Amino acid sequence: MEVTFYGHACFSVNIEGKKILFDPFITPNELANNIDINTIEADYIFISHGHEDHVADVEKIAKKTNATIVSNFEIVSWFNSKGLSNSHPMNHGGSWNFDFGKVKYVNAVHSSTLPDGSIGGNPGGFVVESNAGNFYFAGDTALNMDMKLIPLFTNLDFAIFPIGDNFTMGIEEAIVAADFVKVNKVMGVHYDTFGYIKIDKNQAINSFEKNNLTLILPEIGETIEI
Ligand code: NI
Ligand code: MN
Repeated sequence: MEVTFYGHACFSVNIEGKKILFDPFITPNELANNIDINTIEADYIFISHGHEDHVADVEKIAKKTNATIVSNFEIVSWFNSKGLSNSHPMNHGGSWNFDFGKVKYVNAVHSSTLPDGSIGGNPGGFVVESNAGNFYFAGDTALNMDMKLIPLFTNLDFAIFPIGDNFTMGIEEAIVAADFVKVNKVMGVHYDTFGYIKIDKNQAINSFEKNNLTLILPEIGETIEI
């Protein structure tokens, strides 16, 4: 599957020509100033939770692309109230068959208040099943036992985990999470953007290697095949 990293927890996957963007936070991210959001194509924008560092560019990109916004009911309603009506609400444990594949909204242990203080429901992650492969984007989360439910339903090819610690899992927890969801390939996100989440990338990669796992850390703007 073709995956493009846009910095922080934002990435896009291309599934049979459909462009699915996750958690766009690009224009406020100094590390991502090489990205012009006007060039980003999106058929869907998936949002894991309501925090600014996951929703900052949703409105701009959705208006430009007319992408369908997918998130929990509260976050989708918040964007609806801003005039963005092309959307699909979900809630935890539910799946929906989109035109590129099946998506389940799953639990995350975190918080989800929207930038203006509105209630952003509960935070989540997404399990995506498609002809091009299956993956799990954990969103912002602590390591949690509910992750063990995911491989009961889906054989994953890879996972996207936050690894920056402080606000989410760190490296140690992400290694255990890989075991819980039964993957050996992880793309790391949610690191280095702010002072609280700076990591040593080489040390992180080595820690994964010691556990026979591959940690993928693409450059911002880089497209890789996973
Ligand atoms: Ni967050
Ligand atoms: Mn975050």
